[in-house]
Amino acid sequence: MIDTNKIVLTGIKPTGIPHFGNYIGALKSIIDLSKTNKTFMFIADLHALNSIHNPEVIREHTYQAAALMIAMGADLNNTVLFRQSDIAEIYQLNTLLMNLTPKGLMNRAHSYKAMVDKNNASDLDPDAGINMGLYTYPILMAADILLYNSDIVPVGADQKQHVEFARDIAGYFNHTYKPLFKLPEPLIRQDAGLVPGLDGRKMSKSYDNTISLLAPEAELKKKIMRIITDSKTPDEAKNPDESTIFLLYKHFATEPEITEFAEMFRRGGMGYGTAKQILFDKVNSVLAEPRKKYENLMANTAEIDNILANGANYARQIASKKIEEIKHAMLG
Ligand code: ADP
Ligand code: TRP
Repeated sequence: MIDTNKIVLTGIKPTGIPHFGNYIGALKSIIDLSKTNKTFMFIADLHALNSIHNPEVIREHTYQAAALMIAMGADLNNTVLFRQSDIAEIYQLNTLLMNLTPKGLMNRAHSYKAMVDKNNASDLDPDAGINMGLYTYPILMAADILLYNSDIVPVGADQKQHVEFARDIAGYFNHTYKPLFKLPEPLIRQDAGLVPGLDGRKMSKSYDNTISLLAPEAELKKKIMRIITDSKTPDEAKNPDESTIFLLYKHFATEPEITEFAEMFRRGGMGYGTAKQILFDKVNSVLAEPRKKYENLMANTAEIDNILANGANYARQIASKKIEEIKHAMLG
């Protein structure tokens, strides 16, 4: 159980309509915590800038991410939902923290190293296609986390290192100047696992095997029916834990339903077509309401703008006070 006095924060990078993997691996935790804790949830559009250079696309993805969080139940009474780029103090803190962050720390970032490895494997210059936004990504993320005094940062497993960097950077600051920063802790959902995509590999935009969380009903059905299965006949017993169908189902059903579905796999007698239909019926019934809410919001983006503007006003109050303290500590 998380102490309800703790401040929770996460950023959602607007790079496309969130899929089942994003929701199960990262977004669900923060939506759940928003029901009990003060929560900062922002759309990390500045982080998307290192890969998306089209403003309309960033804007559209920002609306999609914000609408999805609201539709999936983020509790707006406890949640400060805002757009990262609306807070001027974030650019300031980013510049200030640059001067405390060792270059070597950035060299060790998994996301940067993965790009370098890819370039090396293709015989390209190691830094080909890598801009400074990508290279210094963890500093901006540390600024996000530290500016709002966050205690707990729910993230997908791949983001854990970035939160640890934020902790390191907070430590350098506290040691060099004065202890203005809390040391944040990552919160990783242990039970999420890696959500498989349509082809059985990790669900990921880069593999083109995703299912959009709030896709229209017909698209959801089409995608679920396209899940790749092995060649077992309906009569054969199957291992639920090796089936993408079951691995998706278990995140939407109740405990007794999960036990029963697993039993149907093990017993044999259920073909994959039937299993897919059961998965579709379950997911479709759970997501019908949120989907309606999402579609309404996307048809009325002025309402999203309004929510984001209110969130930014609140976030700015915290940020402006904090940045004054930091500037005073660093610049006198
Ligand atoms: P993608 O791989 O589709 O580009 P991102 O890298 O933008 O997804 O992921 C955003 C967040 O969603 C990350 O915190 C990541 O941990 C989580 N996530 C993405 N795909 C999955 C998955 N298949 N299973 C669990 N979590 C995932
Ligand atoms: N880097 C995160 C991602 O790619 C998004 C993000 C930006 C974030 N700033 C953050 C997450 C601060 C947690 C806290 O998913």
